[in-house]
Amino acid sequence: MTKILVLNGPNLNLLGTRQPEVYGATTLAMVESACVKHGQMLGMAITCFQSNHEGALIDAIHESKGTQSGLVLNAGAFTHTSIALMDAIASVDLPLVEVHLSNIHAREEFRHKSFIAPVALGQICGFGSQGYLLALDALASHLTAAGLR
Ligand code: DQA
Repeated sequence: MTKILVLNGPNLNLLGTRQPEVYGATTLAMVESACVKHGQMLGMAITCFQSNHEGALIDAIHESKGTQSGLVLNAGAFTHTSIALMDAIASVDLPLVEVHLSNIHAREEFRHKSFIAPVALGQICGFGSQGYLLALDALASHLTAAGLR
């Protein structure tokens, strides 16, 4: 079965209570279980991982090479700072969809820059937790079109 890793970065463990006016009331546990359910519908086995540590996210990306067919990543604030995450993604050569709950382009200017975007298949932002499910749809279509599943 197609395997997809859903990765969440710093502070996203606080979803549901963290600035709900920006990020919504849905908890990370709810997001992850919705991803697993949606994956079942798409014929994809979903593994979820969250870390507040850049190195742990990089390790998870490295470990996905040869074990996963694609990734969904919300890198949180590392999106705007991490060349190391960008390099890790470029190194594993797997399709990755970048997700943000909020519309980063409609917020502060420092959030407009993404180091993930140049190495991502595409970016989904501004649709709240539904963005993760849209990302899974996009990966399913991409992998099917590319003959990778
Ligand atoms: C975020 C947007 C980032 O700018 C912010 O640092 C986050 C969450 C989002 O999902 O909207 O932590 O990635």
